[in-house]
Amino acid sequence: MKPQPPLGFSTRAIHAGEESPHQHRPITIPIYQTATFSFQDTQELWDYYAGTSGRIAEYGRYGNPTTAALQQKLCALEGAEMCELFPSGMNALTTAILHLCKAGDELIMTDDNYRGSRKFIERYIGKYQIDFRFCETTIQCIKAAVTAKTRLIITEIPTNPCLRVLAINELATFCRQKGIFLLVDATFATPYNLRPLEYGVDIVLHSATKYLGGHNDLIAGALLGRREIMEPLKQFHGLLGGCIDPNTSYLLLRSLKTFALRMQHTNESALAIARFLQNHPKIEKVYYPLLETHEDFPTAQRLLTGGGGIVTFLVKGDLEEATRCVDALKIATIAPSLGGAESLAHVVSAMTYHDMSREERQAAGIKDNMIRYAVGLEDVQDLIDDLQQALSQV
Ligand SMILES: Cc1ncc(COP(=O)(O)O)c(C=O)c1O
Repeated sequence: MKPQPPLGFSTRAIHAGEESPHQHRPITIPIYQTATFSFQDTQELWDYYAGTSGRIAEYGRYGNPTTAALQQKLCALEGAEMCELFPSGMNALTTAILHLCKAGDELIMTDDNYRGSRKFIERYIGKYQIDFRFCETTIQCIKAAVTAKTRLIITEIPTNPCLRVLAINELATFCRQKGIFLLVDATFATPYNLRPLEYGVDIVLHSATKYLGGHNDLIAGALLGRREIMEPLKQFHGLLGGCIDPNTSYLLLRSLKTFALRMQHTNESALAIARFLQNHPKIEKVYYPLLETHEDFPTAQRLLTGGGGIVTFLVKGDLEEATRCVDALKIATIAPSLGGAESLAHVVSAMTYHDMSREERQAAGIKDNMIRYAVGLEDVQDLIDDLQQALSQV
């Protein structure tokens, strides 16, 4: 079924892309576990290359019917013309950077971003003579960092771990005027809470490992955007070779049918947890975009349907108190990642930033008493009771 704008989000999440080409008409899309696709005769091959055969691909690295259904579904949810899928969110990011930037170009990334993205830029893009700079997550700082060589700006919404929410509409207008590509990693927002393309962003990135997958059981990534940007990227992607596996595409298709329900639950639970923590005597500060006390609350309220599932907070004390709190949790598990059914939590400086000195962490805005809590699908009262008992041990 083609995505049709009057249909609701859940209807699109369930039906878009799911028209079965299979003769037995299964209700779900089969997993096309095949490396290559056959042709009846050479004429059919010519028809395929002319784009008149209705066939998706001649070889599995360039496309797959299970993956094509997922691409169609994600386009319908994100409001995109094209979607490319990758074996990880990082592979989506690295492919986009290598495709959009050339030697002599400059890339700007906001500072409160996923550390893996930052590490790739810091460690590797100099090899390709691409310059880079990091700047504070504000429109003013980004504008001030731009030079004549700036080709690409990368930011996240909300950011990680402080959940900053930039006015991406304003940023997109600025980028268009300057001829700069704007890539927004909207993994934390998801298309349920925000569709950045509607605000003029060029490319949206998702670590599909998180809410799109939703069950902590797969790794995948996606890039979405307008045809004129995505078509050349698709060509580059096919030869760079990071193709998603059809089994993973199937799992994502299945997960997306419950996506709206999961996100609604997650948004509600996370806001309740953020409010609970905000009123707790052992808490120094809570970062959640839809709390009135968050520095970007007005922008978040304007742009986001919900605040998403990450709640970051500072316990009163230091690394020791934060560690005691996380270690005492009985429901949330200590692990990186987010977006699955299971709640996960960690002391930020002990996980993602473990290899930095205390001074380096502080310069990066990471406080030792900072905990990142990824709200799962458990009963919210159980999660609150669990946090209550863990905090009582601080
Ligand atoms: C915001 C964000 N973007 C990108 C990534 C990378 O995604 P993946 O782990 O699927 O490669 C992550 C991973 O945690 C992330 O949190």
